[in-house]
Amino acid sequence: MKLLFLNGPNLNMLSIREPDIYGRQTYSDLENFIRAECAKRGVECEIYQSNHEGVLVDMIQAAYGAVDGIVINPAAYTHTSVAILDALKAVALPAVEVHLSDVSAREAFRHISYAGMACEKTYAGFGFDGYRMAIEYLMEHHGGQL
Ligand code: DQA
Repeated sequence: MKLLFLNGPNLNMLSIREPDIYGRQTYSDLENFIRAECAKRGVECEIYQSNHEGVLVDMIQAAYGAVDGIVINPAAYTHTSVAILDALKAVALPAVEVHLSDVSAREAFRHISYAGMACEKTYAGFGFDGYRMAIEYLMEHHGGQL
């Protein structure tokens, strides 16, 4: 099984940005965590981060026919981007949304998730562990070709 991990704007600032909300680990720690969780389970992974909405759209499009599922933390674009929602719908790959923080317990504008409308599942508020949960969900529901 091969999964694409997409992380949106400002996630490259992990450990510096609002550590009380997002924690003290770095983006590179997050990548290492994802790689290790995938390796343990024999899952191939590609991990990208971009601060640009169009780049995230391009990456979702490029995933068509190339991976078995997408794990996406669109960060602030979660709450604004119809383009990312449409891209996820266009490729129609199984997708899981992850947020480090519990967006449902934060400002009202974070309660809407456009990307989430094209995702089978959302894990929010579990920190890095949400990515592990997303891997396990996709393996359980879409790992048939393993
Ligand atoms: C986030 C939550 C978003 O509301 C925020 O804009 C982010 C990160 C999270 O992982 O908790 O940048 O997606």
